Amino acid sequence: MIKKNEKHTVDIIDQGIEGQGIAKIDGFTIFINGAIKGEKVNIVITKVLSSYAYGKILEIKEKSEFRRESDCVTYKRCGGCSLRHIDYKKTLEIKTEMVKNCLKKALNYIPIVNDCIGMESPLYYRNKLQYPIGVDNLGNPVMGVYANRTHEIIETKECLIQDEESQQIANCFFKLMVELNIKPYNESSRTGDIRHLIIRKGKKTNEVMVTIVTNTENVKEIETLVDKLTNEYESIKTIAQNINSKNTNVILGDKTKILYGSGYIEDYLGDYKFKISPVSFYQVNPIQTEVLYSKAVEYAELTGIETIFDLYCGIGTIGIFASDKAKKICGIEVIPEAIENAKENAKLNNVKNSEFLVGEVEELLPDLVKKEEADVVFIDPPRKGCEKTVLETLLEVKPKKIVYISCNPATLARDLSILCNKYEIKEVQPVDMFPYTSHCESVCVLERK
Ligand SMILES: C[S@@+](CC[C@H](N)C(=O)[O-])C[C@H]1O[C@@H](n2cnc3c(N)ncnc32)[C@H](O)[C@@H]1O
Repeated sequence: MIKKNEKHTVDIIDQGIEGQGIAKIDGFTIFINGAIKGEKVNIVITKVLSSYAYGKILEIKEKSEFRRESDCVTYKRCGGCSLRHIDYKKTLEIKTEMVKNCLKKALNYIPIVNDCIGMESPLYYRNKLQYPIGVDNLGNPVMGVYANRTHEIIETKECLIQDEESQQIANCFFKLMVELNIKPYNESSRTGDIRHLIIRKGKKTNEVMVTIVTNTENVKEIETLVDKLTNEYESIKTIAQNINSKNTNVILGDKTKILYGSGYIEDYLGDYKFKISPVSFYQVNPIQTEVLYSKAVEYAELTGIETIFDLYCGIGTIGIFASDKAKKICGIEVIPEAIENAKENAKLNNVKNSEFLVGEVEELLPDLVKKEEADVVFIDPPRKGCEKTVLETLLEVKPKKIVYISCNPATLARDLSILCNKYEIKEVQPVDMFPYTSHCESVCVLERK
């Protein structure tokens, strides 16, 4: 029986879904942050649970040839880029394996899984910066990323995966906030004003949207802050204030006010222009989004006569991307502002064959299938995957093709294990949407049997 504080020498036999190394001691699984498959390491056991334990590296006895010096000062604590100590090409292999492992567990076999498509330059790729703002243990204001699995904020003045200008704007915002004596939110006393800063940038248009998440609606000096920030950065097209007074981990509250500009930014994916509002989902890596969507449309094999359902459609991006090759698009999305954006985006791109519905897919799909017959269904759910009822509805109406886009290989595999009763899984293509993190996006095509 493994015990806390015990020391062991172990061989790393695999890489876990969060990027940790995996070792076994008498068949018992140990997860070790920062360890790479093929290494031999001395560890100390830090936590023991009923079916697995955690260990910490004390010394690397045999180093992997893929180990690299990390180029980031906060990576060990932040947990964002948990694969930053590994050669980039190797991280792509790890992600391909991760997808295969999840599929094997759920399906008992591995369908065709292509090699994960990586980025030429996997740096500064994000178009969305999202930093909590709070106080450190001395009560001083701090802005940055959460330390892994905690709510301790690590000051972050530089980040190798964030857009560089967005980082500069964040630094300027924080400096102004402190100068103007606007109070950061204190999670334990639930006092103070500023909880989060979100900066989004249209990488092709260079338009910036700043969203300030506040604890209360009236924040003294917020107008002065907005004036100073917009004077400093011409690229800021709009600033919104989102009010979230709830004691919750959810970042955005229900109310959003526009403090400056039009309330949206625009960006291009391929030849299509998209309007994005503060609360709408928009993929965080636009270069890889084009790769992902192109693959999804290729998999759909559209000829111009198909009706497409775009489930979990966000601001309508996938459907609009495919619109010139289809007869009709029907999108469903739960966030009303995103559906407003989707409708505007259809107009902006002169897409006349679209319909967008606001509501939960599980609620609206049963009615939609009574009115429209889909030839191809795109599904792009959040990390938790699809509700079982959504899959059951699809199994009942059996569209010819389903193209499933997923940011979580575990729930993708679970949902495929249900769909594969009536569908053949033709191919899975992992795409590296989040380089150096342990996250992996995939697109998969299924054909009716
Ligand atoms: C991974 S995003 C994909 C968005 C879009 N397809 C894209 O590529 O930008 C998932 C979307 O599903 C929406 N969503 C989450 N749960 C939903 C539900 N039960 N019904 C409808 N939409 C939902 C989210 O608001 C989000 O916009």
